[in-house]
Amino acid sequence: MYKQIGILTGGGDAPGLNAVIRSVVRTATLQFGMKVIGIEDSFEGILGETHTMSLTQKSVSGILPRGGTILGTRNRGSFVKMVNGQPVYPEMPIGEALANLDILGIEALIVLGGEGTLAIAEQFHKRGFPVVGVPKTIDNDLAATELTFGFMTAIDIATEALDRLHTTAASHDRVMVLEVMGRHTGWIALHAGLAGSADIILIPEIPFDFDAVIDKVMERDRKGSRFTNIVVAEGAMEVGKHEMYQDAGELRLGGIGDYITRTVAKRTDKECRSVVLGHLQRGGSPNAFDRMLATNFGACAVRALAGGDLGKMVALQAGTVVTVPLAEACANLKTVSPAGQLVRSARDIGITFASPKEMLVK
Ligand code: F6P
Repeated sequence: MYKQIGILTGGGDAPGLNAVIRSVVRTATLQFGMKVIGIEDSFEGILGETHTMSLTQKSVSGILPRGGTILGTRNRGSFVKMVNGQPVYPEMPIGEALANLDILGIEALIVLGGEGTLAIAEQFHKRGFPVVGVPKTIDNDLAATELTFGFMTAIDIATEALDRLHTTAASHDRVMVLEVMGRHTGWIALHAGLAGSADIILIPEIPFDFDAVIDKVMERDRKGSRFTNIVVAEGAMEVGKHEMYQDAGELRLGGIGDYITRTVAKRTDKECRSVVLGHLQRGGSPNAFDRMLATNFGACAVRALAGGDLGKMVALQAGTVVTVPLAEACANLKTVSPAGQLVRSARDIGITFASPKEMLVK
């Protein structure tokens, strides 16, 4: 059995990271008598002058509901940097990192992160270092796992935003456009759109037609609902067009909400307003479900490490936490199926995705 293991968090934060850290520390110490070292700022913390902290049951007490990560997740580009929105892996200083892990007495690692961070973890595994990964993204876009912690919290926040926009939209007879995160998938927009009674949901998987958007706004007007709530995923696009970026260099998605707002205002006599929910979806306390999932992921990750199930990532499949090879963990994107049940149910209750096909059906 390992005497001492390390834990680190990489990539963007997500509500529930601290809940995983707490669960790892408690499981490792209570069940296996292992010590746990927290590595600061992802893999950067084991380079140069290393930055680590000893994690005990006492030091993780009270962090379960806390947002962010007590370990930090600042990437200085030593292992991965973003070039034109794509992760580029420079010659990784794995040798230096392994030597430092040896000096620190860290015999195995639990790595919390998204595709970039877990790809680095796999390199450690390939060099024979014991590693287990824990998936993390509010976008819920990893095919290997049914859910990731942080997603449900993001939906809660987007739903509350839609509820609030609803009352102000109705009071002013306005069109309100809420842009939510999700990268190249529409999971947050779809789930929050259903939960927050959006009238129009726009997602990357179903490119939209402006005529269909305007049609829906005008139809609602005619029927006496003189306001419309639109939720748009940051990666959504018009038919025949590409995703919009707020920053051409870094390829950071954004701007589609504002574009829709301006276009609807131009093509109708409606007052339109737009809101970008942004990082409010990632900050702050995880909801009850995410605390539970994160805690289960943490305990399962330690059990996998202790049981020699190495080079794996914990994942939720059919409601149970299992392990999948790190190599497969982030290989496939999970996208919303345009023919799936949730999309169909949304259409059945009168929500439109504004696809040209829906106009034909009408
Ligand atoms: O992947 C999580 C996510 O929040 C995406 O939904 C969003 O596009 C991106 O990260 C934002 O990244 P950053 O924190 O670099 O602005």
